[in-house]
Amino acid sequence: MKKEKILIIGANGQIGSVLTDVLKLQYGSDHVIPSDIRVPEKKDQLFERLDVLDKNQLATLVNKHNITQIYHLAAILSAKGELHPQWAWDVNMNSLFNVLELAKEKSIQLFFPSSIAVFGKEAPKNQTPQYAPLTPTTVYGISKVAGENWCQYYHDKYGVDVRSIRYPGIIGYQSLPGGGTTDYAVEIYHAAVKGEAYTSFLSENTTLPMIYMDDAIKATIAIMEAPQEQIKIRTSYNLSGMSFSPIEIAQSIQQHYPDFKVSYAPDFREAIAQSWPSSIDDSAARADWGWKASVDLNMMTSDMIKNLKMKYLSTVSA
Ligand code: NAD
Ligand code: SER
Repeated sequence: MKKEKILIIGANGQIGSVLTDVLKLQYGSDHVIPSDIRVPEKKDQLFERLDVLDKNQLATLVNKHNITQIYHLAAILSAKGELHPQWAWDVNMNSLFNVLELAKEKSIQLFFPSSIAVFGKEAPKNQTPQYAPLTPTTVYGISKVAGENWCQYYHDKYGVDVRSIRYPGIIGYQSLPGGGTTDYAVEIYHAAVKGEAYTSFLSENTTLPMIYMDDAIKATIAIMEAPQEQIKIRTSYNLSGMSFSPIEIAQSIQQHYPDFKVSYAPDFREAIAQSWPSSIDDSAARADWGWKASVDLNMMTSDMIKNLKMKYLSTVSA
């Protein structure tokens, strides 16, 4: 087992709950401390309730567990952020400052997730390059651009070993999404497996970059474990998995459920999606630390349906 002592902040969320389980397998259960402001229903023995905006509480926790690595996942995502812009800015920025300061003081290695939301309408829509104009239209995107730059600043000025990925929309069967623009791509599978019709809040041809949870977790751990000299970008790396639109994911699901019905009722999230890339050029991540996605749309559909069927069956029989 590896030696790090890892704190996951936002461990009760869509990514954090899955990352916690994978890191526990790889590093040992007693090396991983999940924390969140919300206490999960099934509480891990080492779980700590933490409001990351409380820097004293954060410091106490880091000292108590001799933390050497932090995955800082707590944030307010794009759609929820547009409903509460000042709250989103407060949580996203001040949590990062608290974590960066501690990382500086205690030489803690840090993971900061950024997003495709850093791009706006001025960036090329297809194969958006690593270095494109960053003119986001959401408070979430603005906070991620600022966050990326603060990460680079703490690295350059104070030597903080902070690493970051611009995640595409993440899709997994294990957990539910927490208020983003890409949430439809998880909800649609749940509807299909439950035998329900689905109404998409994005229009049928709006194509976005997406990634399967397994690939997202693989990338997250890979960038954290890569040798220092391979990490040449200290803002955030572009990352690509796959790209599809609501109609394409519906067609992929209809290969398993031919009668599955999808309708389209775009809401305010459509404008957010329209401002984002359709596909991402991740050649820097590939060249620097060997990233390569392995799951495409149809593979993801088969795996999502297989696992959600088991999940719903076990709920019914429980
Ligand atoms: P999520 O909303 O599912 O989870 C975030 C967690 O943070 C929640 O459990 C929430 O309770 C917790 N949290 C919120 N405020 C907190 C606070 N003050 N103190 C402690 N915990 C707090 O989000 P997610 O989808 O798991 O995303 C994790 C990270 O990855 C975020 O930074 C997000 O911006 C980024 N990201 C996610 C996606 C995606 O598609 N899920 C895509 C791009 C980037
Ligand atoms: N999936 C995220 C969102 O929709 C992208 O960062 O907000």
